[in-house]
Amino acid sequence: MSKKPVQPHEIPTTGHSWDGIEEFDNPMPRWWLWTFYLCIIWGIGYTIAFPAWPLVSGATAGLLGWSTRGDVAADIAAVDEANGPINARLEAADMTALTSDPELHGYAVSAGAAVFKTWCAQCHGSGAAGAVGYPNLLDDDWLWGGTIEDIQTTVAHGIRNEEDDDARYSQMPAFGRDELLEQTEIAAIANYVVSLSGEPQDASVVANGAVLFEENCASCHGENAEGDIYQGAPNLADAIWLYGGSYADVVETISNARFGVMPAWSGRLSEAEIRSVTAYVHQLGGGE
Ligand code: HEC
Ligand code: HEC
Repeated sequence: MSKKPVQPHEIPTTGHSWDGIEEFDNPMPRWWLWTFYLCIIWGIGYTIAFPAWPLVSGATAGLLGWSTRGDVAADIAAVDEANGPINARLEAADMTALTSDPELHGYAVSAGAAVFKTWCAQCHGSGAAGAVGYPNLLDDDWLWGGTIEDIQTTVAHGIRNEEDDDARYSQMPAFGRDELLEQTEIAAIANYVVSLSGEPQDASVVANGAVLFEENCASCHGENAEGDIYQGAPNLADAIWLYGGSYADVVETISNARFGVMPAWSGRLSEAEIRSVTAYVHQLGGGE
């Protein structure tokens, strides 16, 4: 039962004619039409299954409950699961012997670099070089100690914060504001301190400043101003300054003191993250 082929002259035209050329009004091919209808059905189904229609706040959630956030959460969970065994090994490891396990150490350092970029870089700088008030973690000058255990304690509990009872704590007196010393005495001590690593502003008072330093400052900063990691008291003789080493900076520090605060990370980061960022900081250059 063959169909009679349609002759060109039987096809209606659109009625348009240009210089005798006429436009046929052919129907759409079936396959095309069906593809088109399927696309519409697929499109409607899609907007029901997935988040689609904007609402006043948010959008329709879609019956499948899929979301980009959920996708990311699943990715993160997958990575966490994959890292589970090595994180467990890191949590059980003896930190002082970490370098003897190159695989674990390598993992800790690269994971720690990511933790550092996320949680530490805003204060210590993305390269860990620090800024005024935020110590450089690349050098071997440590306020609170540079062994891997010292660093772990500092990171876990923080410094002078109020959230962690085990935070490292010390407080330098404000010798000027609290009138513990006269302005002339502060000037003499500041000249002595500056003279330890550079040129004092007034060399004639340095000797007097040394005596006053011995009486007022050596208990924390040491006889030779070499600092004391048990009190977080900086070395004042090494030309490395947390708050600036100009005469004016030193006068300001002695007069009003400083009180650098670092948050505790033990509640915010996992034990494995704290250990990995500790390993990262320790290998930056200055770890002892
Ligand atoms: C809100 C700012 C801030 C953030 C964030 C921060 N720190 Fe600190 N950190 C400080 C300050 C301020 C000090 C110095 C405190 C002082 O004066 O004793 C410090 C000190 C340290 C020290 C001691 C350095 C030394 O010489 O003994 C280490 C180690 C350290 N931070 C590591 C980290 C790590 C690792 C992170 C991220 C998990 C981090 N910090 C995040 C502000 C911050
Ligand atoms: C009770 C202990 C204590 C005493 C006493 C003390 N300091 Fe300090 N000093 C500190 C601590 C702790 C810091 C670090 C503060 C910080 O990191 O926020 C500090 C910081 C400093 C700094 C800043 C160093 C830098 O790198 O920028 C200078 C300068 C300084 N002290 C000088 C003195 C002088 C001079 C005296 C005596 C007049 C003195 N201090 C007495 C504890 C003490």
